[in-house]
Amino acid sequence: MPENITAPEKKKRIFSAIQPSGTITIGNYFGALRNWVKLQDDYECIFAVADLHAITVRQDPKAFKKNILEAYALFLACGIDTEKSIFFIQSHVHTHAELAWILNCYTQFGELSRMTQFKDKSAKHADNVNAGLFTYPSLMAADILLYQADLVPIGADQKQHLELARNIAERFNGIYGKTFTVPDGYIPEVGARIKSLQDPSKKMSKSDENANAWVAVLDKPETIMKKFKRAVTDSDAKVCVGEGKDGINNLIAIMSSATGKTADQITAEFEGKGYGDFKTAVGEAVVEEFRPIREKFDQLIQDKAYLEEQYRKSAEIALKISQRTFDKVMKKIGYLPR
Ligand code: TRP
Repeated sequence: MPENITAPEKKKRIFSAIQPSGTITIGNYFGALRNWVKLQDDYECIFAVADLHAITVRQDPKAFKKNILEAYALFLACGIDTEKSIFFIQSHVHTHAELAWILNCYTQFGELSRMTQFKDKSAKHADNVNAGLFTYPSLMAADILLYQADLVPIGADQKQHLELARNIAERFNGIYGKTFTVPDGYIPEVGARIKSLQDPSKKMSKSDENANAWVAVLDKPETIMKKFKRAVTDSDAKVCVGEGKDGINNLIAIMSSATGKTADQITAEFEGKGYGDFKTAVGEAVVEEFRPIREKFDQLIQDKAYLEEQYRKSAEIALKISQRTFDKVMKKIGYLPR
């Protein structure tokens, strides 16, 4: 082989998962989901619907089942492509729960006690502080380590969990020799942090009591328009980025995410126009951005057989890959082969 021809570089592997929470907001989409879709071309991507994590809080069986399937369909509608990526449902691949148990035995009580999400969630669900809520990070570590992922795209709220996954991997490797790839966090270059439309000092969240604070990807156009018209602004009456203009800054970020225009372009375009016009324009841009996704979702959710085919195919591949790691782990610990 001539020296100047090098083998194509092996693509790095990415793993990420998202909980089937029932509502995916435009904040989730612009902040995370849209980036996943883009990553598919440059990385070997493995994505999952984290339905095992979801039962750390009580779920209504009927609604839960619906939410899992809808989350799956919505992600496909957004552009997750099972020809390019592996996209499965966590509970369909049994190695996750199995490795989670093993990793629990290599994770310290003190480490789990320090997780801020555990502290927050146990305060919020004081009547159900279950062991799963506590050991949630070991399951998340299992998700990632099973696939020997190099990179894990996550939001800021999951950074501490990823740090713990790295520690668990290093600890295990330290005892038994190299078994797991120690994953790095992946912070996407772009990805606006979308804030609440009612209190722009807070992140947009579907658990906000005020439904006007968030916009769901699948909200109807009328609902989207109504929510944007009610968005809080300021008394400055100028469409531009500025201090003390959190509401307008947020609307500009949303407009920019939906249209690809820069803040300066948006400011120029709305020079001399009022906030009413601007809010209508942002609403319309969001409606247009999500129209094809909503249409695709409506079509996919009717086609249960197609969805089933996709998640089965992906689960089969995921099992194969993860089983390799799992078998290695079992052997290193000293279990008898099956
Ligand atoms: N815990 C993550 C969240 O709530 C979801 C998740 C589960 C995840 N397993 C993961 C994210 C593995 C990244 C990697 O957002």
